[in-house]
Amino acid sequence: MTVEAHAKINLTLEVLGTRPDGYHELRSVVAPIPMHDDVAFSAAEGDSVSVEGCDGVPPEKNLARRAALLLREASGCRKGVRIAIVKRIPMGAGLGGGSADAAAVLTGLDRFWNLGFPVERLMALGAEIGSDVPALVHGGVVLMEGRGEKVSPCAGFPTPPWEKLVVYTPPVFSSTARVYGEFRETDRGAGKNDLQPAACRLYPGIRDALRKLEAEGCRDVMMSGSGSTVFGWRE
Ligand code: C5P
Repeated sequence: MTVEAHAKINLTLEVLGTRPDGYHELRSVVAPIPMHDDVAFSAAEGDSVSVEGCDGVPPEKNLARRAALLLREASGCRKGVRIAIVKRIPMGAGLGGGSADAAAVLTGLDRFWNLGFPVERLMALGAEIGSDVPALVHGGVVLMEGRGEKVSPCAGFPTPPWEKLVVYTPPVFSSTARVYGEFRETDRGAGKNDLQPAACRLYPGIRDALRKLEAEGCRDVMMSGSGSTVFGWRE
């Protein structure tokens, strides 16, 4: 059984404040885009869980593996699984690649193991893995709030002209934790993504990428998530 793990872009991203747990209070409209990884599930010996295709990611940092172990623990399932991922979503790119894989493992493995968990329960497990995971488990265009754990369908948001979307990931690995650490109150409200000024200070290649899309005639050019991907709309 194979499922698609779609990348996301943040159409808006407001940082509303810091939380007692050190994370930031967010409000962001998150939308899936066509780019995707493929996540395949097959039976494994005993109760072993293995993940292939995430070269260079240490097992303890592999969000897909963490999702599988968390779901096995939460369900008491005694089955194993072999997960093979074909990766296309770049890492450190603000496209939610690792989170998308984790979300696909939660929803896919729920079916593969016949668990029948309600989507809300899968989203709650996702929140333990990463801030973007609940939104990607839910799917569709959503409003994400809190640390990322509050997700609601975003019916009122004007549908973007998807056929005009241009996405560009410069050769820059952007560290989400570093970008949040660099965020200053004065960065707020400068554009549609409050993290963009901080990311551009840390990684000048992101500023160059924004200018490149603007020079190519794209409008409403902005950064996704904590970068490094930028996107805009063809005229
Ligand atoms: O939740 P996730 O692992 O994706 O977050 C990565 C890092 O981004 C966190 O360690 C934290 O520094 C920062 N972050 C934050 N506030 C959020 C989400 C992420 O400060 N709401």
